[in-house]
Amino acid sequence: IYEDKEEASKHVAKTISLLMRQKQQEGEYTILGLATGSTPIKVYDELIRMHREEGLSFKNVITFNLDEYYPMRKGDDQSYWKFMHDHLFNHIDIDPKNIHIPDGEIPIDQVEEYCQEYEEKIEALGGIDIQLLGIGRTGHIGFNEPGSWDSSRTRLVKLDHLTRQDATKSFITKDNVPYRAITMGIASILKAKAIYLMAFGQAKAEVIAQTLEGPITASCPATYLQNHSNTRFLIDRPAASELT
Ligand code: F6R
Repeated sequence: IYEDKEEASKHVAKTISLLMRQKQQEGEYTILGLATGSTPIKVYDELIRMHREEGLSFKNVITFNLDEYYPMRKGDDQSYWKFMHDHLFNHIDIDPKNIHIPDGEIPIDQVEEYCQEYEEKIEALGGIDIQLLGIGRTGHIGFNEPGSWDSSRTRLVKLDHLTRQDATKSFITKDNVPYRAITMGIASILKAKAIYLMAFGQAKAEVIAQTLEGPITASCPATYLQNHSNTRFLIDRPAASELT
């Protein structure tokens, strides 16, 4: 439990940077699993600062984002593709070919094959070293909404009405929010070697308590993280306020 999100985010960014430097020395790539939304923004700010001020290079980093709305054009304001470029990729020295974000423009009849290839690319690289997660008020991680099983893989899903409501702030009206998304599955997420879930603010308090202290259940998919041996939750005091 951290004093505030700045402190928690700096800790996560520091951890990522240490792994990146270590892997670079060993001549290896660092494979990062990334999230969008308001929660990880300060981690990305800090990584950009380290790139600018401390010479942190992303030349040996490969990224995989958790999810993207479907359908969604890359250039659209609300796309996660744009979010990641605005908040991170445009400000660091990552090779664009090392960036992977689920493609919201893929024709519907190719989505299944595309999702399988997304998983295979991660596996072929030896898996994700550090996976960043936020959490939705429905208990979703990625866009694995209630009802998602722990065996779920990268796929097209329907968004929960509460998730669509929470997304309204970016889309102006709820009607504009897509009904579907492509997301990495629970099984895909649980394969990561280390997972850092961040949650800030009172609005996350209930779901954090349920996730950490409730039974493992598909009705709160984040509870599956209890089965992962190297997951850390980094939360602020308001988000911790309903823990017993
Ligand atoms: C985003 C994602 C979602 C968000 C979650 C929390 O890539 O996978 O699970 O992490 O909806 O969103 P914020 O951070 O906006 O509260």
